[in-house]
Amino acid sequence: MKKKYSNVRGTIDFSPQQNFIYESLRNESIKLFNLYGYKQLILPFLEEKSLFIKSVGQTTDIVQSQMMKIEGKDIVLRPEGTAQVVRYYLQNRLDKKNSFYKFFYIGPMFRGERPQKGRLRQFNHVGAEVIGSNSFYLDAEIIMLALAIVDKIGLKEKKLQVNSLGCRKDKEKLSKYIKEKLKKQKNQLCPNCQRRIKKNPLRVIDCKRDSCRKIVNSLELEKGHLCSDCRNHFDNLLAVLDDLKIDYRYNPYLVRGLDYYTNTVFEITSNQLGSQDALGAGGRYNDLFNQLGNIEMPAVGFALGVERIMLALGQTKVKSFPLVFIARAGNELENELFSVLTKLRNSNIVSTCDFRKKSLKAQLRYGQKIGADFVVILGEEELRKDKVILKDMKKSKQEEVKLNQLTTKIKEKLKNYA
Ligand code: HAM
Repeated sequence: MKKKYSNVRGTIDFSPQQNFIYESLRNESIKLFNLYGYKQLILPFLEEKSLFIKSVGQTTDIVQSQMMKIEGKDIVLRPEGTAQVVRYYLQNRLDKKNSFYKFFYIGPMFRGERPQKGRLRQFNHVGAEVIGSNSFYLDAEIIMLALAIVDKIGLKEKKLQVNSLGCRKDKEKLSKYIKEKLKKQKNQLCPNCQRRIKKNPLRVIDCKRDSCRKIVNSLELEKGHLCSDCRNHFDNLLAVLDDLKIDYRYNPYLVRGLDYYTNTVFEITSNQLGSQDALGAGGRYNDLFNQLGNIEMPAVGFALGVERIMLALGQTKVKSFPLVFIARAGNELENELFSVLTKLRNSNIVSTCDFRKKSLKAQLRYGQKIGADFVVILGEEELRKDKVILKDMKKSKQEEVKLNQLTTKIKEKLKNYA
């Protein structure tokens, strides 16, 4: 028996239809990134392991159990893009050049998670990082941009949650408070959280286990740990979101699963997804440049999960480019068919045909199946008058058109085509 191969668990093959959605998301994102003045970075899939230990954090799930290592080397497949962009910035001493940069990136990330719906081992991020300013307007811009991309692709139903962890000192204060508060209930926490409470109490807030969640929810977290600067920053951000009429929920329990965040954190979720409901997330990381490069450099960013967005879209139709299908009544018209096809393509009209030797009826069935918006039918009788039949599939209307006017006629129709 020959072995039957299938894709590795936790990865997905993109069919042409799925790829079409992916490409639409890419294109719409790039348009928006350009509009907001972001420049694209394409960075390697491989990075040094210690980069993520130092940035994402030793006690996080990503570092503890999800890093995909290259055997025998201290190299991993990148689990996320933020640390990598910071590495790029520091390596190229961009702080000595202009220091204020707006980057975006699109590409695969790798996490050796236990696969489930919406949780993959290889998935794609559409992400952005703004480096060099602590303005709360940039926190707002990053949130707006993430929402705009999700919106543009057709996901109208989504929720935004925001919180502020505060600066390094505020985070320490918050960690101390959590540790103190959970002291008595320590034994009721899961074994993982019992360990976390010693090394990194904030991670306990992020535990997904029901038993831990119940205890955590009784902590009465609020803005009390924030110093006046951080509180002002957060209040100002919320005021901008209010001005922009962006709907959000302040969630003091939102801490995120990566350690580098300071101040603003946010998550965009969809109720179209199951337990893995985050479409994307992000926040500020004003302390990360200090940890990795000993420089003070404020920054903020986000990453959207492409496959999660595709899952949430489900059957929602993503607008595709109009397609013209050409059929011929009789296989002896193949030459004419090929010549019309070439003419349309030379005029930038997306067109195709069925080159199998099939009846007109079967060709038209195929055209319909692949979603043709217009069909051109070549028939002996019409061709003798230098004419073809042009059918608008949406309107179910057809007309005879002069062959030498076909491209102009189709272009005219495409102009008004929604
Ligand atoms: P993250 O929350 O780890 O943040 O990932 C961002 C998004 O990627 C998630 O909201 C989710 O949609 C998607 N995602 C994460 N893990 C998986 C997975 N295993 N399978 C499928 N999709 C997944 C970051 O990575 C930060 N770097 C975001 C950021 C950028 N913060 C500041 N700048």
